[in-house]
Amino acid sequence: MSYTKSAGRLLVVVLAVAGLAEAQGFRWPEEPENLKALPASVKGRELGSIMRGFASALDVRCQYCHVAQAGLELDPMDLMTFDFASDENPRKNKARTMLRMVGVINDDHLSKLGVTASDRVRVDCVTCHRGQSRPEMLGDVLATTIAEDGVEAAIEKYRELRESHYGGFSYDFSPGVLGSLGESLLSEGEVEVAIRMLALENEQNPDFAYGHYLSGMAHDEAGHGPEAIQHMEKAVALAPDGQKPFFQRSLEKLKNDGR
Ligand code: HEC
Ligand code: HEC
Repeated sequence: MSYTKSAGRLLVVVLAVAGLAEAQGFRWPEEPENLKALPASVKGRELGSIMRGFASALDVRCQYCHVAQAGLELDPMDLMTFDFASDENPRKNKARTMLRMVGVINDDHLSKLGVTASDRVRVDCVTCHRGQSRPEMLGDVLATTIAEDGVEAAIEKYRELRESHYGGFSYDFSPGVLGSLGESLLSEGEVEVAIRMLALENEQNPDFAYGHYLSGMAHDEAGHGPEAIQHMEKAVALAPDGQKPFFQRSLEKLKNDGR
């Protein structure tokens, strides 16, 4: 929903830049000088729509991959200041590697699944990138932050990302993501860190029964009996009817073990 909004906003900016640039004399080249990954037939407006697709899939602007003409200062609003044929920006070659990868995925692998060509789902830049220049899942971003800068930094990171990206499709803020991270931390023996991430899950998604269940398990592992039982009771109370027996059994087990 808000992705469409932000993609829409970006598209408006990109179109505005392109429109402005055309007024300034920029034309999508009818004879591109330096295509190494796109089919040689690509030119003009088709090239334009591919480039705008790159920019919007990664949520970046042209200068993310392209450099200024020799001797000119880059003005991002003036496409006449760019040297689009230059390979000086290393990201341009990375994008070529990506183009070839996408070609292999679609043509060599997906084509073998037996889906007729007209029905086939095509992988595109946005399939993975989802408005990120380096596509990373929320749980992985947080796990890396925990490993590098600690759990407080990860909690801060989560709040920042939620503030800037909630409702978009770059990061998944739905219930369960922090829970899964907590679960994997628990399995690695990082009980205290798991408890913190699960507390964040409970704070953000207070009605998510499974989050409280996981907090119950984590507190139990840490030897915090009363907190464990408190969370498990909450899980039982919040669970949909069909799931109540599962949480109820866990609660009884905690109570029995505590005796
Ligand atoms: C993610 C990286 C990326 C972004 C962002 C990007 N481009 Fe490109 N661009 C490329 C790559 C890669 C090629 C070369 C494709 C090939 O080798 O087949 C290219 C080629 C071009 C060319 C052809 C140059 C020539 O003569 O060979 C033009 C023009 C161009 N881009 C314009 C733009 C504009 C304008 C924007 C912003 C709206 C933009 N690009 C955004 C990666 C990018
Ligand atoms: C199958 C998933 C996938 C698809 C499809 C994909 N990418 Fe990527 N791309 C990645 C991943 C993952 C990385 C990050 C690699 C890393 O840095 O570890 C990446 C990195 C990049 C980078 C380097 C970013 C940086 O700053 O380091 C560029 C540029 C890029 N992709 C462009 C594209 C373009 C353009 C397309 C479409 C032609 C595309 N990608 C399609 C997964 C994908």
